[in-house]
Amino acid sequence: MTKDKLLNISNLVLRLGVGTVFLLFGVDKLLSPEQWIIYIEGGMVRWILEVFHLNPNQFLSIQGGVEFLLGFLLILGIGTRVLAGICAVLLGAIVFELGYDPIAIRDFGLISPLIALILIGPGDWSLDEAFKQFKRNAQDTPQWFIVLPWVLLGVCLLALIISWMPKNDSEPVKHRVKAKAKVVKLVSSSLSSKLRREPVFPIPDIEPLDEDRVALGRALFHDTRLSKTNTISCASCHDLSKGGADGLAKSVGIHGLVGDINSPSVFNTRFHFKQFWDGRAEDLLEQVNGPVENHKEMGMSWPEVIVNLQQDADYVKRFKKTYEEGLTTDNVRDAIVTFEKSLVTPNSRFDLYLKGDDQAISAEEKEGYAIFKRIGCTVCHEGKLLGGNMFQTMGKMANYFEDRGNITEADYGRFNVTGNEEDRYKFKVPSLRNVELTAPYFHDGSAETLEEAVQVMSKYQLGLQLSQDEVDKIVLYLKTLTGEYEGQPL
Ligand code: HEC
Ligand code: HEC
Repeated sequence: MTKDKLLNISNLVLRLGVGTVFLLFGVDKLLSPEQWIIYIEGGMVRWILEVFHLNPNQFLSIQGGVEFLLGFLLILGIGTRVLAGICAVLLGAIVFELGYDPIAIRDFGLISPLIALILIGPGDWSLDEAFKQFKRNAQDTPQWFIVLPWVLLGVCLLALIISWMPKNDSEPVKHRVKAKAKVVKLVSSSLSSKLRREPVFPIPDIEPLDEDRVALGRALFHDTRLSKTNTISCASCHDLSKGGADGLAKSVGIHGLVGDINSPSVFNTRFHFKQFWDGRAEDLLEQVNGPVENHKEMGMSWPEVIVNLQQDADYVKRFKKTYEEGLTTDNVRDAIVTFEKSLVTPNSRFDLYLKGDDQAISAEEKEGYAIFKRIGCTVCHEGKLLGGNMFQTMGKMANYFEDRGNITEADYGRFNVTGNEEDRYKFKVPSLRNVELTAPYFHDGSAETLEEAVQVMSKYQLGLQLSQDEVDKIVLYLKTLTGEYEGQPL
């Protein structure tokens, strides 16, 4: 077989094969959807958005256009990649203007070669014809380029097979039955499920936690003896009955001192990629020192905390029972962190919907979600938390801080951690889980209502002016994100 023929088959196999594999089984069988969006696609998307100052929707539409035309032209055997690129940009722009869901367009692009093949069939536009047309382009193609798609496809298929292989079960017959059932289920669910590649996922189940540690952590979390004045506990600013926040624009700590920034919810923080608005703590363990030592929050040092707690015989006893070393700073921190890890809020109505209950949310709420995706909110608010997994500039499309005025150091966001100019005004994208309960919004607590927050976001992050109806529907959608804590609605 000639080199160019091989090249074209490789190309076809790659597009048809990978496209079909994605379509049938979903990328989530190769990587978790979250990994996919964040590391592969999201990383690339975000990089391109930054570099070219593109609106996220435009980008996704263009990507869909590229996929579509590349596949189509390849089968037709006409045009070059450059031509395909130009057409794609036009198509993407048109499709975007028509207001279609960019993610759906992108997915459609993946299967376009298949559709083209069905539409055109063999005849004059046979594959052979296509190979000839591509001959010129193929002359300088290095060998590895021909081999690579096959290797990739092989890896994809292998990963699929491995992911199907039953684990932790010894009976071979059962295996086969199980594996077969799994394949059938996969295929049928992927064919029937509209939600397979949704940018939002349900809150996952968590591992069982040590109950004694959780109970100790809960007590400490609500204990004012962690503060200098014996007046403030973690719960003062993270009230579990107020969605894990305090309902204030800026938190109030010891001596009535007003903090610099809005208190975020403590629910689901275990799933955040970093802690704090500016991500200065890597994880919950690193985070917990912050409030205790902050002079405007609790104003303590750990040795002082331990002295306070040691006066309580009950604590001493419980720590001794739960931890080998008893009441120590490390164990106090561990108990609080273990408790925080238990603060998850599954089973929101939207999660039930994602898991297949079509009736869990209303038609209007579904429309709200469709708008939320279409206009590009999900570019930043994605994954299981609809946030909490990246830093983004506040005011991407318009200057939020200039319009608001009174810029403070807290407004510099991530810049305060890295000192890099490009990080100025960047914040960890907040989670939108339970967001209806945690007004006021934004790091500065400037938006009193969800409605206002949505308007600010669409203007400053997406450069859009939404109609009142669109805003209302998005707000309705956001209210479906309120979950349960310990089996009770929040
Ligand atoms: C005086 C109010 C106050 C107290 C007391 C307080 N916090 Fe906070 N907490 C805040 C504020 C404000 C932030 C955001 C600070 C920032 O990002 O710079 C925050 C952030 C957090 C975060 C990070 C959340 C996220 O989304 O990044 C966690 C977790 C947290 N606090 C847990 C605790 C724990 C545990 C305690 C008790 C040891 C505590 N807080 C005490 C006000 C408070
Ligand atoms: C470019 C990234 C980006 C896009 C797009 C985006 N957001 Fe945001 N969102 C953020 C960041 C960053 C913040 C935090 C800003 C701050 O506190 O100053 C935020 C904050 C919010 C908040 C407040 C949450 C809280 O607890 O304070 C809501 C609500 C919100 N966004 C909803 C939306 C909606 C609805 C859309 C679509 C119209 C959207 N966002 C689009 C990045 C984005």
